[in-house]
Parts: sequence; structure tokens; C-alpha cells
Amino acid sequence: MVFAAVLAGGSGSRMGNKEKPKQYLELAGTPILIHTLEKFYIHYQLEKILVLCPKEWLEYTKDLVCRYIGETDRVAVCEGGSSRNDTIMNAIRWLESRYELSEEDLIITHDSVRPFVTHRIIEENIKYATKYGACDTVIPATDTIVESEDRQNISAIPKRSRMYQGQTPQTFQIKKLKRLYDTLSESEKEFLTDAAKIFVMKGENVCLAEGEVSNIKITYPYDLRVAESLIRSRQSEE
Ligand code: CTP
Repeated sequence: MVFAAVLAGGSGSRMGNKEKPKQYLELAGTPILIHTLEKFYIHYQLEKILVLCPKEWLEYTKDLVCRYIGETDRVAVCEGGSSRNDTIMNAIRWLESRYELSEEDLIITHDSVRPFVTHRIIEENIKYATKYGACDTVIPATDTIVESEDRQNISAIPKRSRMYQGQTPQTFQIKKLKRLYDTLSESEKEFLTDAAKIFVMKGENVCLAEGEVSNIKITYPYDLRVAESLIRSRQSEE
């Protein structure tokens, strides 16, 4: 079985919107979260799509799903966690308590604020995670990546042809992700912001799926303006 977890548990502090977290802001008249959810909802292979949001936004999110998607058993809204990885672990706990999971079962984790994910990217994630156990979506780095350990001086300039920018989805065999996560110390859990890194740290393979330049993450107000013009230009092409 393949499950999706749409991660909407963050507060969007960098967006600076105090009224509601950025995933609820509108893009061409529809909440960003709904644009993202629709991409997964129409995917025939997904058994269940979980939307994980802050506790105080549970009812609001359920209402949105009902309004835009309709009454459906294929979408469940549940509580996220205090960090992104905690949110993923909450999704896994939710699944474990309701399904008899096998080693092959997959979870596709995706940022709720990346509404331009494509069918092809989701397909590739499923294909690679089925074959290799874990998969991360990336695009080749276009800018040179410069590393600084002290935030003042360059400590390294890695070869650009080996550098990629991470996107989502990230897809994992559920049981394996849980096992690896459970071996982390509390400080490792705190410092690990990326779920794929859990695999990498433990010496496990993570296969690369090809992302899209347009699969942007809406982080700052500027990104929202870019997303708005992207969506408008697509709508005018249709
Ligand atoms: N996320 C989550 N649970 C958390 C933190 C983040 O599900 N505890 C989700 C966010 O809702 C978002 C995605 O992870 O869809 C990517 O994270 P980011 O862009 O960093 O979102 P925020 O944490 O909300 O933003 P900020 O860091 O600006 O507060």
C-alpha cells in the first residue's frame, strides 16, 4: 500500500502572516494546502492521504477538505508534531494504529506548501522507493554552492555538478523509516531537519527522483507572488 502525508503542521513564521499559517493562504482563490492535496487526491494508487496540521487548526482544516474535496474516506486530517520529523512520525503512528503494515508499504511525505508537485514526480517517487526503499526529489544546483562554517569565510566550494537542491516528495518504506528513527538519540532527532538524512546518516540508500524547477516551496511573501504568477500563467494557457 502507498500512503501520502501532506505536511501542514508548521506555523509559517518566515511568511510573517500572523493571522494564519501560510498553508492556508490563498493562491488564485484556493488555499495552498488544497492545491497540494488535490495533486495527491487524484492519484489512483494512494490508499489514504493524511493531512497533518497544528492542533488548533484541525477543525478548520477538516472544514476546508470537506468544502473543496467533499466527504471522503480517502483523506484524513490529523495532528502534526512540534518539528517536521515529529509530524512525519505522527503520520506513521496514525497508520500503524489502523493498518497491518508490511515492509513494502510506502509513505510519500510532501510539504503542503509545494503546490506545483506533478503526477510524474509522484510516480517516480513510488517507483524508486518501491525498488530502493527510499527516494528524495531533487533538482541540479544551478548556483555554485558555497559552504561557510563560521558564517564569515568560505570553508569549501563543492563541485557544482555533484550538488543538488532538495525538494519534496520524499518517500520511504514506512517500517524502515520508523526503525531508523527509533535508533536516533534525542539530540540527533533535534538536529535532523530532513527525513532523508536519517537514511543517509545510517548508511542507507536514498535514490534520487528528478524534481522540477517549478516545484517551489512557498516560504517567503516573495514566493507567494511567484506562485501566484505561475498559476495565473498556467490558467491562461488552458
Ligand atoms: N511542517 C510540519 N510540521 C512542523 C513544521 C513544518 O508539517 N512541525 C511542514 C510545514 O507546514 C510545511 C513544510 O513542513 O508545509 C515545510 O516546512 P517550512 O517551509 O519550514 O514550514 P514552516 O515550519 O511552517 O515555516 P517557517 O520555518 O517559516 O516557520
